[in-house]
Amino acid sequence: MQFSETVLKRRMVRNFTDAPVSDEDLRKILELALHAPSAGFSQGWSYVVVRDEERRREVGRIQGEEGYADRFGNFISKAPVNIVACTSDQVYHRRYQEPDKIKDDGTEIDWPTPYWFFDIGAAAMIIMLAAVDLGYAAAFTGTFDPKGMKQYLGIPDEYHPVGVISIGKPAKDVKSPSLKRGRRPQEQVVHFEKW
Ligand SMILES: Cc1cc2nc3c(=O)[nH]c(=O)nc-3n(C[C@H](O)[C@H](O)[C@H](O)COP(=O)(O)O)c2cc1C
Repeated sequence: MQFSETVLKRRMVRNFTDAPVSDEDLRKILELALHAPSAGFSQGWSYVVVRDEERRREVGRIQGEEGYADRFGNFISKAPVNIVACTSDQVYHRRYQEPDKIKDDGTEIDWPTPYWFFDIGAAAMIIMLAAVDLGYAAAFTGTFDPKGMKQYLGIPDEYHPVGVISIGKPAKDVKSPSLKRGRRPQEQVVHFEKW
């Protein structure tokens, strides 16, 4: 698939068939995610891949799946693969205390932006695009109960589960009402030379 076709084809699909994601495809998707950029090459991401049916149901429950069910059905637990995307600010703090990153006065940089969230977003985008490129669809849902998710999956203290990327073969889905907002055109979003 051409890159632009993959990008244009990607959208949040909130329904999946029962068809599995092959081990080989899952491995490819996760391998590509490792090529995301990261501040200071910190790579502070980690993933918990949930494929077991009962565990998917529990991940769906933690994600508040019942709140989506009326409109979209149980698309999170239905997806054959759920990737819980985590990030650790501590990895970045440690990295930026290394000699090539630490300031001359021996202190850590003043973070202009929490790069650990930027980086997991970039990696999540690769995961979603890779899934589409391989003929799957993906949906991202934010984790509003990070404590519950951590406890259930045994995620270490310093990692924060940002959200779940559900992947599977696309089934006929309901479009999110948010899409009625329409896509903002370049003229509104892009400023050349000066805002
Ligand atoms: C950071 C982020 C959080 C999101 N959280 C949710 C969510 O919790 N539940 C959900 O159904 N969709 C969620 N979405 C999907 C957006 O609603 C969706 O990307 C947007 O409506 C545009 O649609 P498209 O991705 O199909 O182009 C999220 C997307 C992003 C980038």
